[in-house]
Amino acid sequence: MILPGSTEMKSQLASHFDLEPSAAIFKETQKIYDRADRVIPEADWLRYAPYVKAINELKKEKDAVILAHNYMTPQIFHGVADFVGDSLQLAIEATKVKEQVIVQCGVHFMAETSKILSPEKTVLIPDSKAGCSLAESITAKDIEGMRAKYPGAPVVSYVNTTAEVKAASDICCTSSNAVDIVNSMDSDLVIMTPDGHLAQNVAKETKKKIVYWEGECMVHIEFKADELREYRKYEPDAVIIAHPECPVDVVAEADFSGSTAGMINYVKENKPEKVLLVTECSMGSNIADEVPEVHFLGPCNLCPHMQKITLEKILWSLHTMTEEVIVDPDMAVKARLAVQRMIDRK
Ligand code: 13P
Ligand code: SF4
Repeated sequence: MILPGSTEMKSQLASHFDLEPSAAIFKETQKIYDRADRVIPEADWLRYAPYVKAINELKKEKDAVILAHNYMTPQIFHGVADFVGDSLQLAIEATKVKEQVIVQCGVHFMAETSKILSPEKTVLIPDSKAGCSLAESITAKDIEGMRAKYPGAPVVSYVNTTAEVKAASDICCTSSNAVDIVNSMDSDLVIMTPDGHLAQNVAKETKKKIVYWEGECMVHIEFKADELREYRKYEPDAVIIAHPECPVDVVAEADFSGSTAGMINYVKENKPEKVLLVTECSMGSNIADEVPEVHFLGPCNLCPHMQKITLEKILWSLHTMTEEVIVDPDMAVKARLAVQRMIDRK
């Protein structure tokens, strides 16, 4: 089996597609490049353009659509994605797409969510090793343990979970609807899994008593409140926007907290002169061209899982129709209930 990203993959791609950098292909893709030229140097686009062209042609041939998370690199976000968004938007879009093939550019739980919602479609992920520290922190057995500890309390699980954990939960939530979902529960005590920081941030905005699993996002726990206070000292006019996967004391330093889409909308609507996006750093790059008046300051942490998805692997995925995401049909039915309940309460 040829592994995504391997030398063998590269040489097979080179023998099937014209991937040599050329001025002609650069020109052909100029309109796409214009959307990201503030953050992608011309020399880099020269290399990306042949992949962008090949992927966009292959999508039509294979009846495929690319759903991409906001953390994808700018060349994916602007170059080949048909739809971009946060976890909730991607899940909703997966229920609507007409194409037979979904290529999920994001991490594995996102591709699994698309498969759960569209079992009749072929769902591909360009690198199945693109995991998530939150999804890996909990199993269905752990959910049963939480239920035993807090009998009768409903389980709200973040979509950053495996299908088996979703199937064992009552309802899912994302960072954009977590407070509303928790408030809609018919119980004063709510179990939230697996992100302990999201749960503590939600607890500050609800009257419900929240008990939680102590999972963490390996990217967002790296941000420190002290670091933000330092930024404030030197950049007092900068607006700080933090993702709710950050620790509570980090979110407390922020002027606004929201999902990746919520953060993007905030910047587009308010156009602060200087902004700190306290989240994965591809986000700032992806919107930089749309808001030229905004200066993006650090800090910057990359998600090593999201970064596994590359143009090369997307092309390989479409060319070979791999790696297909398979979810056990019985488990998918149960997991779908939890995801659908969330979508229906939107
Ligand atoms: P969003 O739902 O806000 O896009 O977050 C997903 C995620 O994995 C953030 O780390
Ligand atoms: Fe998971 Fe964190 Fe990466 Fe999001 S940023 S995919 S929560 S590890």
